[in-house]
Amino acid sequence: MDDYQYFIDQVKQKTAIDLSYYKETQMKRRLTSLRDKRGFANFEEYYKAMTQEQELFEEFLQRMTINVSEFFRNPQRWTVLEKKIIPRLLKNQSSIKMWSAACSTGEEPYSLVILLNQFLTYKQIDLLATDLDQSILDRAINGFYPERALKEVENKKLQTYFEKQDLGYSVNDEVKKPIRFGRHNLLHDKFETGFDLIVCRNVMIYFTEDAKDKLYQKFADALKPGGVLFVGSTEQIFNAQRYGLETEDTFFYKKME
Ligand SMILES: C[S@@+](CC[C@H](N)C(=O)[O-])C[C@H]1O[C@@H](n2cnc3c(N)ncnc32)[C@H](O)[C@@H]1O
Repeated sequence: MDDYQYFIDQVKQKTAIDLSYYKETQMKRRLTSLRDKRGFANFEEYYKAMTQEQELFEEFLQRMTINVSEFFRNPQRWTVLEKKIIPRLLKNQSSIKMWSAACSTGEEPYSLVILLNQFLTYKQIDLLATDLDQSILDRAINGFYPERALKEVENKKLQTYFEKQDLGYSVNDEVKKPIRFGRHNLLHDKFETGFDLIVCRNVMIYFTEDAKDKLYQKFADALKPGGVLFVGSTEQIFNAQRYGLETEDTFFYKKME
């Protein structure tokens, strides 16, 4: 068997992470450079060492996931969310159930709570925030950010929702309360249902077409009728109707009612 394929199979058995759903050229390049850096001649040796040394395994996990994020990433899209999508969703209801899927270090779920707090109290907001990587989630729960992650946050919001620290800002505890952080593998785990809004941005680009196809259907099934899937700014869905979705605005897909 091919050495990389052996690695894929072993990792899948040990962790339920299926690397074959990630675009191969990109993933293999990233992992080969890490493997070489650690001095292993092939993937089999690298995998064996990983099973004995937790640090090597965690380093692998961090390399395979790309965790870049920021508050209100692509601000114009967040303006559409605030001015158009949320007002429609809240027309006949006074609470909201949302999911930030692949939330990385937390900038996205905290941006959602801050935006929704313009409309609702914290108690009326329910937000599931998940990622594959527990160490990333720990950073999200901690809620400390250097200034560069906050460049799109207006001063007034900084003052209301954050506390200044020596080297950056911490999110206030009340902003954390509506969020249920949890580990979740999009390619393996069951989806909760009944969401008004699912935000899944800048992770689908790493997946194969086959994986994307399955995921779009699962997201559509997890939405309430009229609910919205908000995707990243390079992640347009070309045949949204196939999944029972229609374009409400660029990068926002509404589940048909
Ligand atoms: C580039 S970040 C996106 C963060 C945020 N959504 C944003 O747009 O700023 C991609 C995240 O996807 C996560 N990820 C990768 N594969 C995943 C999977 N199979 N299930 C859940 N999360 C995954 C990574 O751990 C990483 O935190």
